Amino acid sequence: AKNVGILAMDIYFPPTCIPQEVLEAHDGASKGKYTIGLGQDCMGFCTEVEDVISMSLTVVSSLLNKYNVDPKQIGRLEVGSETVLDKSKSIKTFLMQIFEKCGNTDIEGVDSTNACYGGTAALFNCVNWIESSSWDGRYGLVVCTDSAVYAEGPARPTGGAGAVAMLVGPDAPIAFESKLRGSHMAHAYDFYKPNLASEYPVVDGKLSQTCYLIALDSCYKQLCHKYEKLDGKQFSLSDAEYFVFHSPYNKLVQKSFARLLYNDFLRNASSVDESAKEKLAPFSALSGDESYQSRDLEKVSQQLAKSLYDAKVQPTTLIPKQVGNMYTASLYAALASVIHNKHTSLAGQRVILFSYGSGSTATMFSLQFQEGQHPFSLSNIANVMNVAGKMKSRHELIPEKFVELMKLMEHRYGAKDFVTSKDTSLLAPGTYYLTEVDSMYRRFYAKK
Ligand code: ACO
Repeated sequence: AKNVGILAMDIYFPPTCIPQEVLEAHDGASKGKYTIGLGQDCMGFCTEVEDVISMSLTVVSSLLNKYNVDPKQIGRLEVGSETVLDKSKSIKTFLMQIFEKCGNTDIEGVDSTNACYGGTAALFNCVNWIESSSWDGRYGLVVCTDSAVYAEGPARPTGGAGAVAMLVGPDAPIAFESKLRGSHMAHAYDFYKPNLASEYPVVDGKLSQTCYLIALDSCYKQLCHKYEKLDGKQFSLSDAEYFVFHSPYNKLVQKSFARLLYNDFLRNASSVDESAKEKLAPFSALSGDESYQSRDLEKVSQQLAKSLYDAKVQPTTLIPKQVGNMYTASLYAALASVIHNKHTSLAGQRVILFSYGSGSTATMFSLQFQEGQHPFSLSNIANVMNVAGKMKSRHELIPEKFVELMKLMEHRYGAKDFVTSKDTSLLAPGTYYLTEVDSMYRRFYAKK
């Protein structure tokens, strides 16, 4: 199989959201802290009728339907998620309801979990399967689904919720450059979920930012090294059209891109001009540790990277800024954003992605775009995802309602024997929703 990659994509995020400006005022945070300080516009969240299973059912049935893919054509289904609703039964098995109905139970794959990285692991599994000798000629399907909720406090505005589905196969308009890949895996306690009775993580915010940047540096070095070995020339920011980052909140993405510029400077890459070299010179001798702590370096490199950021990163930030952190789906929502914004000019271009999961696991990898053929074309993917339409039909809830919902969900997490309100008034037709969890903890869903 050649040019294995993403043939088709769809995205779902809940129709319920809260503007960050409103949340900021409600939380008593200083004006601009969430919008400018974190760089976020709005936060999506699940109400009591939606969860990671319903969102993944919604996005999978929508993808199959809109691209006219027969469920029998799927040979592998992989889910990435860090939202645990069951410690044994995978989300993938819930999705099998769609396939069993059509007589297809011959589907490999289960769930992958490690913070926000599970979706990337799932995607790599599907790509590897199609490139392997066990491939039977059918499609792979990847689903990233998460609901990111935090306890009250500084991390709460970095929540979000959503699901992305990607159909994987050969001759894809979004093809993997499989040799161009660098990983960084290490042991860290930056963000983890040791309390199995709670959906909320334990998080060391500052440490998680540093772990993210350490992994970014390390992955970029690996990727540059591999490129140089393969192509015999230096890799730099000018060798890719767009850079797509896992996006817990936009400010970290701004800092990350500036960090790549600093890496190019340290490697004496041609992408860094003379005046930038001069301005970065005072930071050339910093140790790694010092460089992560230096506010001056952060400021100077962000200023120097500003125009490149606007060209190479800003078009990828739309959905993550509007919906918030969707954990495993966050990186792929950023990819969806650049397809939405730039699908008419992406053909022939390279895009670099950086996937980070706390704990910590990270990979930087490369995709090459082609226009493709209907229905698996960039223009059709943009059309099917209908990002603008979905954004427009959202409903803003008041902060009091959001807080009340979070409290209700705290009680419902791990609970049994309840029925939901079944209030689907805000959901679009075709959306799956939770109706009941019975006395045996079995979850039931219906479709609007
Ligand atoms: N106007 C403009 N900017 C402001 C204002 C204001 N009124 N007030 C604060 N700011 C800025 C700060 O200067 C800071 O910017 P800087 O980083 O450029 O200096 C930014 O807003 C955030 O302010 P902090 O005081 O640093 O925020 P706080 O410590 O309260 O929380 C944090 C931020 C740590 C990101 C928290 O939201 C968190 O823990 N989130 C979850 C962890 C996370 O997402 N980690 C990322 C990687 S791991 C993962 O993906 C889950």
